[in-house]
Amino acid sequence: MNKNKVGNMKIVILGAPGAGKGTQAELIAKKYDIAHLSTGEILRKNIITRTKLGKKAQTYVNKGKLVPDDIIINLMKEKMRSKECKKAFILDGFPRTIAQATVLNEIADIDIVLNIDVNPSILIKRLSGRRSCANCGAIYHLLSNPPKKQGICDKCKGKLYQRDDDKIETVKERLITYNEQTKPLIDFYSSKKKLITINGNRAIEANFKEIVEKIDSHIKSQ
Ligand code: AP5
Repeated sequence: MNKNKVGNMKIVILGAPGAGKGTQAELIAKKYDIAHLSTGEILRKNIITRTKLGKKAQTYVNKGKLVPDDIIINLMKEKMRSKECKKAFILDGFPRTIAQATVLNEIADIDIVLNIDVNPSILIKRLSGRRSCANCGAIYHLLSNPPKKQGICDKCKGKLYQRDDDKIETVKERLITYNEQTKPLIDFYSSKKKLITINGNRAIEANFKEIVEKIDSHIKSQ
């Protein structure tokens, strides 16, 4: 494995709500020891702590709509200037519009874009059973990835909760928003020859195995 290439690797992970972006990004960040930036997680922390950003974002997030581009672009420009993102990172939830992708293109040289492709019928089941840690953001599922102790995070012992935007009406809205505003990024990155599509319909471990094979093969080809 070319350590230099891993140390500089810049990845974007795409996929519909519930595709498993957060789950896989966490595993990838751990395996390759790179920073993991999740816009959804950053926004939820700001919403819980009632910051100015959180108050602005809340109305959009709770309706399943995208937070306006200018807010997200400013936020991510600042985050990506941080020391932890200087070299290698995985972006989860950003970009989500062509405007965001255009700005990202100007500020970072992305190596690969992983697109987790999942059948729509599976997405709803994944979202309705999701539980997240209020403290560290770790992701669980009541059936496919349960915590060892019900309601408690394995990693930090934080309390698990169900996200407000996982209510069925909001989920439907999030899927519409994804199809209209985020799906066009598949063609955007495909035309730049950066796109790697993963069959995300299988179990977490099987999806991760395919992702690792594809990342490693990309690194070897460099
Ligand atoms: P965000 O948190 O990014 O939500 P999302 O894109 O809708 O994605 P999710 O977090 O719902 O799903 P995921 O793909 O990460 O799946 P997960 O791994 O959790 O954003 C939330 C909101 O913030 C947006 O709606 C928007 O309002 C706003 N926002 C964020 N970024 C923005 C941006 N750039 N611009 C504007 N607004 C923005 O998995 C789901 C469940 O399935 C879990 O329970 C997991 O355990 C389980 N699971 C995962 N993989 C598998 C598998 N292979 N088999 C079985 N179960 C699995």
